[in-house]
Amino acid sequence: MKPPLQLPLPGKRIILGVTGGIAAYKTAELVRLFKKAGAEVQVLMTPNAERFVTPLTLGTLSEREVLTGIFPENETGSWTRHVSIGLWGDLFVIAPATAQTMAKLASGMCDSMLTAVALAGRCPILICPAMDHDMYTHEATQNNLDTLRTLGYEVMDAEYGDLASGLVGMGRLPEPEAIFERAKSKLAQIAAEKKGLLAGKQVLVSAGPTREAIDPVRFVSNHSTGTMGFEIAAAAARRGADVVLVAGPTMLETPLDVVRIDVVTAAEMKAAMDSYGSAELIFMVAAVADFRPRDVSSSKLKKNGGIDELVFERTEDILAALGANKQENQTLVGFALETDNAIENARRKLEKKNLDWIVLNNLGDEGAGFGRGTNAVTILGRNGTQSALPVMEKREVAEALLDQVCGA
Ligand code: CTP
Repeated sequence: MKPPLQLPLPGKRIILGVTGGIAAYKTAELVRLFKKAGAEVQVLMTPNAERFVTPLTLGTLSEREVLTGIFPENETGSWTRHVSIGLWGDLFVIAPATAQTMAKLASGMCDSMLTAVALAGRCPILICPAMDHDMYTHEATQNNLDTLRTLGYEVMDAEYGDLASGLVGMGRLPEPEAIFERAKSKLAQIAAEKKGLLAGKQVLVSAGPTREAIDPVRFVSNHSTGTMGFEIAAAAARRGADVVLVAGPTMLETPLDVVRIDVVTAAEMKAAMDSYGSAELIFMVAAVADFRPRDVSSSKLKKNGGIDELVFERTEDILAALGANKQENQTLVGFALETDNAIENARRKLEKKNLDWIVLNNLGDEGAGFGRGTNAVTILGRNGTQSALPVMEKREVAEALLDQVCGA
C-alpha cells in the first residue's frame, strides 16, 4: 500500500547503517521515526553492532530483513545485493558510526554489507560519529573525518555531554529526532537538486504495445504492459522536464505532470512520435509491432468461412526514422529485447538506428522483461560504454537510466 502523501517522507528509501557502539540502542527509535514518516528503511549492521542491539529488534521495526554479511546466507541468495541496495537508497545514514568503521570507510575497505554498500551505492551518505571523547578528538579520527568529508560524506557532528565511559565531553550521538530532522532536510535538498536537473527540457517517451487489427474484433499484439516507459516518463517529470508520453493500449495511470497521447497502431504511434520529434531527449520504449496484417477485413471473419492465410506487411521503424533525422542537440535512446547474442545485437541496433544509447533487456536474465515489476538491463552507450544494472524495480531502472543518459 502506498503511504499517504501528507507524510513527511512518503516512499523515501533510507539505508540505515548501524555500527558497534553503545549509542546503537538509539537506532530503534530512529527506525520508528523514519517508518512513521512514510519512509522505507533497510537496516545494515556491522557484526559488532549486533552486540548492542539485536537484528530482531531493528528487523521488526523496519519490516525488512537486517543484513550484516556481504555474502548471501544460502546458495540461492544474490551476490550483488550490495549493489542493488546501494542503488535502491535515496539516502544512507550511518548512525552511530564508530572510529573503526570511519577508518574503514576513509580507506575504502569493504568487509561487511554496510561498508560495501557505502562504496557501491550512489546515494548521498550522512555519517553520525559517536564514541568516547578522546577517541573522537584523536587526530587519527579527525583525519578520517576530514577524508570522509573530502569523499563527499556529510558529517553530523557528535555532541558534548555525558558519555557511557562516565566522562563528560565530545562524542555523544545526537538524539534520534535531531538525526531524523537532518536526514529530512538532506532528502529535501537532494529532491530540489534532482528536480532542477531536467528543468525546461523536452522529453518524449513511447511506451506499451501496439495493436494491429485483423478484423473489427481481432488484433495482433504483444505482452508489453508499458510499465518501463511510464516509469521513465514519471522520473523525467519529477526532474522538471516537459514530458510527452505516447502510449499504446495499457491500463496504467498517467504519471503526474505528464502529457499523454493514446495511440493504438504502429502507424498512429509513428504519427504521434513524429509530431514531437524535435524533443531533446527521446526514449523509444514501446514494443512496436514489426508486422501488421496487410488486408484488414471490414467485417468480422466468420469461422465457417475459414482462413487460408494471414498475410503480413512490415510496419515502419519509428526509431530508425527518428535516428535518420536526428538533430545535433538530440539524444536518442532505444530499447532492445534479445534472447541470443544480446550485447552484439543491441550494439548493432544502436549503430544501425543512429542511437546515442540502447537499453538491453536480456530475456534470459532472471527478473527481466514483460509484465514484471522488476527489470535487469544493460545500458550501452554510443561511445562504447556498457553498464549492467542488477535486478531492480522499474522505478529504480528509470532513475538509473536518467542518471546515465543525463550524465548525473
Ligand atoms: N522500434 C520502432 N519501430 C518498430 C520496431 C521497433 O521504433 N517498428 C523500436 C523499439 O521501440 C525499440 C527498438 O526499435 O526501441 C528495438 O526494437 P526491436 O524490435 O528489438 O528491434 P528490431 O529493429 O525490430 O529488430 P529485430 O526484430 O531483428 O530484433
